[in-house]
This record gives sequence, structure tokens and C-alpha cells, in this order.
Amino acid sequence: MHKRPIAAIILAAGKGTRMKSKKAKVLHPIGGRPMVIYTVRVAMEFGADPVVVVVGHQAGEVKEAITRNLGNQGISFALQKEQLGTGHAVLSAKQHLRGFSGDVLILSGDVPLLTKEIILSLHRRHIQTKALVSVLSTQLPNPYGYGRCVVDSSGKLLRIVEEHDGSKSEKEIHEVNTGIYIVDKEFLFKALTQVGTDNNQGEIYLTDIVRVASARDLPVYAFCTDMWQEVMGINSRAEQARAHDVMRRKILNRLMETGVTILDPAVTYVEDSVTIGADTVLHPQVHLLGKTVIGRDCEIMTGTHITDSELANDIRIFPYSVLEGAKLESGTQIGPFARLRPGAVVCKGARIGNFVELKKAEVGENTKVMHLTYLGDAHVGKNVNVGAGTITCNYDGVHKHTTTIEDGVFIGSDSQFVAPVLIGKNSFIGAGSTITQDVPPEALAVSRGRQLVKENWVKSKRKS
Ligand code: UD1
Ligand code: CA
Repeated sequence: MHKRPIAAIILAAGKGTRMKSKKAKVLHPIGGRPMVIYTVRVAMEFGADPVVVVVGHQAGEVKEAITRNLGNQGISFALQKEQLGTGHAVLSAKQHLRGFSGDVLILSGDVPLLTKEIILSLHRRHIQTKALVSVLSTQLPNPYGYGRCVVDSSGKLLRIVEEHDGSKSEKEIHEVNTGIYIVDKEFLFKALTQVGTDNNQGEIYLTDIVRVASARDLPVYAFCTDMWQEVMGINSRAEQARAHDVMRRKILNRLMETGVTILDPAVTYVEDSVTIGADTVLHPQVHLLGKTVIGRDCEIMTGTHITDSELANDIRIFPYSVLEGAKLESGTQIGPFARLRPGAVVCKGARIGNFVELKKAEVGENTKVMHLTYLGDAHVGKNVNVGAGTITCNYDGVHKHTTTIEDGVFIGSDSQFVAPVLIGKNSFIGAGSTITQDVPPEALAVSRGRQLVKENWVKSKRKS
């Protein structure tokens, strides 16, 4: 649908001093992803090709985050060794657009809430007005810190004046530069060679291409959007928190539109990377993070925290359970107060109850592990009953060992399995046993001391 080809340059080389962080600003997360990811993604969704990301500060980490989240199709990276300003950053991308002719969409890596619709409307206006430079602006009640748009009576943009350089009357302008532009490529790189560093920051300002155009009476316009929230740049922790909240609401709205019930969206936290099936219900204070996938008809109750886990359909997670790297088959029930660590696998219809911890442990179909249990490095078969207080002693201080419990075993309460150990099919373990040797199928194993009763022992003790 684009009349001319359009590429994108995304500026992400800055440090972000106002974040007061050792981490580059664009790597700070919003809704569970580094904020730069959203900018790169929206440029791709809009159809820009190629997308060139200008990296500098922590270049390796920024690149890695982008390729991890979005792959590397259609994305290339330009290195800006020294951060000498936004104009200088764009110049660093020049080589990457060698063969390209058309328009260039320029975005900053710190506008995570920007939508494709806003870019499309800027692009439409750019085409309609046959502009060489189109700047997206917005009106802010408090324009402090932003570049101000100085516009003439016919609506032509004359120049953009930065906070550091503005006169008193210029600083009273409320129409600000959002840092989102569409520029004719040829004009862009020609104009940038004419931009100096004669400003209070000694930088090459991208915004000065506006002066170059207006001085020659070339078509340069500012288009004012009223979607100010979506075009806000993130410069501080407070702005990050606000953007995070907007993003969180967006994610929840998207889920509700696809049939997920969210009982209290004000206190539900779901990251952008999570997917959830229809008719699943999320209770208040649920956190769903990372690459978590949840199926249909599940119920996730209050206070539950799930990271990088895979849940099939018809699962109930009772309150205050913590899951990480776990895999649950359909019809399972977990918690309350369960902890499933990486490698926990719970097969169809199995139940994991309160104060149970699983680590690298597979629990077979319809098996019950209901109370106060630790299973680590364990394979537990089908239809096993694991009594309260069962512990796998998987660590000898040097190595981890495996416990295997076959189908149909009954484990009495307060039993320990000193691994490596194998418990054969359908066998019984007497309560209070410490099992150190393999148990054959269909056997009874009891390892506790026989009970001793001495009648009237108390009386005789008192006499002596
Ligand atoms: C910039 C604009 C300002 C606008 C504001 C909107 C200029 C001179 N000013 O100011 O008019 O109102 O954005 O948010 O362009 N960057 C680099 N290399 C550099 C410098 C910056 O890659 O050498 C990147 C940063 O990582 C950031 C983006 O460019 O993603 C914007 O830089 P920033 O320092 O935040 O510019 P502002 O002062 O906000
Ligand atoms: Ca900024």
C-alpha cells in the first residue's frame, strides 16, 4: 500500500542518563520486554524495510535483546561509537541504507507505547502534503524537556528548539517534537551534512534538518497528534512506571478481547510474551511472566506467580503457588502454596497440594502428592499416592541422584528416599521409612524401628 518504499532508523545508542542506571535505558523493561523491542516491532508491523537500529551504549546487549525477542529478519544494526547527538546517530546508519531510495521513518528506542495507527496517520499526511520532512508533534500541558515546534502562520514548521537552547518565549510553546519523523532519504543525508554542532550541548541535532528545509522553503510540516500518551518518550523511572501501567492495561485488554476473564485488572500482572486461552479466569494478584503459555478453561487463583511455564487446558492453580519452568498437563490441580521449579512435569489429572516442592520431577497421571513433600530429580509413575512429608534425598553433598517410583506405589507418610533408589510397581512403603535400597514390585518395605512399649515405665523411673 505504500506509494514509495519506506525504511526505518531506530535510535537506541544513548545511555539514558536520567534513568540513573548502569543499564542502557532502552533495555529497561516495560510489560516484560526491553522497551526498545516495542519500537522495533511497531516499525516492522508498519512495514518498514529494512529496519536499521543504531546501537552504541551497551551495543552487544541491545543487539542480543532485539534478536532474542524478534529474530534477525529484516533488522540490521549500525554502530554509533560515540554518542554525538541524534543527527550523528542517523548518520551512522547511512551505509546501511546505501541501496535504498524512498522515505525513512525515524523513531527513538524509548517510545514503547507508539502504535502502528499513529505511524500510518503520519505517513498518510506525509504523502498527501508531498512533504520532504514530516515531524509528529503533540501538545503537552508541561512541555519541559522537549524540543518545541516553531510554526509559521501557514502551518509550516520553521524550526525545532531544544530545551537547552530555547529563548523564554520559545519555551512557552506547548507543541513539542515527539522525535518521530518521516523524511525523504536523499534530503535527510544531504541536510545532515549541513547541520553543525553550534548549540548548548555541542551535538549534531537531527532536529536541525528542519531549519535546513525551511531556509530553502522546502515542504516541512509538523503533524500534531492528540495521542500524547502513546508518543511519550521514557526518560526517567517515573515515566517508565507510567508506561508500564499503560502497557499492562493494553495487554490485559487484548487478553479480555480474546475471551480471558480478569476479575480485577487493576491488580493483575501479565507480560507481553504470555498467551492465554479463552475462558480461563485470572483472580486478583496473579503474575504471569516470561514465555508462559496457558490453555483454555483454567483458573489461576490469587497470589500465584508463574514464569516460563506451560499449562494445558482445564487446570486449577490454588492461591499463592509459585511456578517456574514447569509443565502441566490438562486436568491437573496445583496448590495452594505449591512451589514448582524448573523441570517439574505434572501429567494428566495429577494433584499437587499444599507445601509441596517439585524440582526436575515428573509426576505421572492421576498421582497425588498432597502435603508437605519435596520431590527432586524424581520420576513418579501413574496412580501413585505420595503420603504427607515424603522427601527425596537427592543430594549427597557432591552429586544429585535420581529416585524412581513406579506406577501404583503407595507411600506412607513421612518417608524418605535416599537416592539413587528404585521403587517397583504397586509396592507399599510403610509410614516413617527411610528407604536406602531398591524395593521390588508388589513388595512391602518398612525400615523404621519396631515399636517398643514398656508398661508402667514412668512409675518405676520416678521411684529410682
Ligand atoms: C529528542 C529531540 C527532542 C524531542 C525528544 C522527544 C533532538 C536533538 N531532540 O530529545 O526535540 O522532543 O527527543 O523524545 O533530537 N540517541 C542516540 N545517539 C545519540 C543521542 C541519542 O542513539 O548520540 C538516541 C537515544 O538513545 C534515544 C534517542 O536517540 O533513544 C533520543 O535521544 P534523547 O537523548 O532521549 O533525546 P531528547 O533529549 O529526549
Ligand atoms: Ca528522549
